[in-house]
Amino acid sequence: MAVELKDGVYWVGVVDWNIRKFHGHEYSTHRGTTYNAYLIIDEKIALVDTVWGPYSQQLIENIKKIIDIKKIDYVIANHAETDHSGGLPELMKIIPDATVVVSEKGNESIFKHYHEKWNFKVVKSGDSISLGKNNLVFVAAPMLHWPDSMFTYLTGKNILMSNDAFGMHYASSGRFNDEVDMIEVYQEAIKYYTNILTPFSDLVIRKIDEFKKLNIPVDIIAPSHGIIWRKDPLQIVDKYYEWATQKNDGSVVIIYDTMWNATGKMAKSISEGLEMEGVKFKLFNMAVHDRNDVLTEVFKSRGILIGSPTMNNGLLPTLKPILEDLKGLKFKNKVGAAFGSYGWSGENVKLIEENFEKAKIKKLQEGIKVKWQPTREELDKCVEFGRSFAKALRS
Ligand code: FEO
Repeated sequence: MAVELKDGVYWVGVVDWNIRKFHGHEYSTHRGTTYNAYLIIDEKIALVDTVWGPYSQQLIENIKKIIDIKKIDYVIANHAETDHSGGLPELMKIIPDATVVVSEKGNESIFKHYHEKWNFKVVKSGDSISLGKNNLVFVAAPMLHWPDSMFTYLTGKNILMSNDAFGMHYASSGRFNDEVDMIEVYQEAIKYYTNILTPFSDLVIRKIDEFKKLNIPVDIIAPSHGIIWRKDPLQIVDKYYEWATQKNDGSVVIIYDTMWNATGKMAKSISEGLEMEGVKFKLFNMAVHDRNDVLTEVFKSRGILIGSPTMNNGLLPTLKPILEDLKGLKFKNKVGAAFGSYGWSGENVKLIEENFEKAKIKKLQEGIKVKWQPTREELDKCVEFGRSFAKALRS
């Protein structure tokens, strides 16, 4: 059902309650998502973004309930990723003469997705299009989330349509932040930031500084996923600024996997050491935990302790995706240490420490290894390992 944001501006997107894996299978969406598209009725009519391809007809039906769809003059494609541009092919079959507005990078990325010679108009940062009473103003936002990403701002209504930025994967009956559970919203927003935007944190800071200097009034921030920020809309901008600085809460995350629980016992004993020193921690066996959720906890924390037994001269495979993400997400200000059991070759600690180096996680202390099952004395050493890690963390 279409929802009015302000007079003549409508949400015409789709709520996807059941999606549980996004980006192929890369990102877990425990609370579903939405694909937000916005219809603006002025002397000219514009649609800002579309929806994921399988939902094209739903988008078209939503628009038809408000206007004759053939009256659309402009389709703004803020970003080529198919969760937002996927509705273009079906839509453009109905309105082949409409102008598709793209950023300079979007000119290539949209074309290379659909290979259609639509009537493209390329805009750069600061360009505007008059709709009659109000204008659309475009702001390039490279890497939030792709090089082609841009924001579209509607003058007169003071609505910033920020595409991926300031969004979250969250399906809800209410469209606005004053209609939903904000604890859930912020859990999803920080997860989204962690897993998608962390590597671009410096750009986030620069973009927010740049935007604040423009001194543009913002009544509503309307991202392309999740809720629309209507009540105190700049709260999410302030949150992004805070997240982009990558401050942490001083806690520790213990990430491990185990075969016959030798490394599991070590993890438990290490956590006892942290507890004795009053350091908050969370313990995750990667055989059962969701990678994106654990990464979100890593984002909030200061210390990362990673444990694995040695298997086939390597680490347990369940740990490899998160180690790859730690490298790719480029978290800042993290310290770590490695642990694990082994039977004969015992490369585990060395391999984990090599991963720390690649992820620019500072090794806080030498790793600890136990051959076969740990004795009581060896577990006491693990407790001490946790205590010394906690002390070093605080110093
Ligand atoms: Fe929601 Fe980068 O697409």
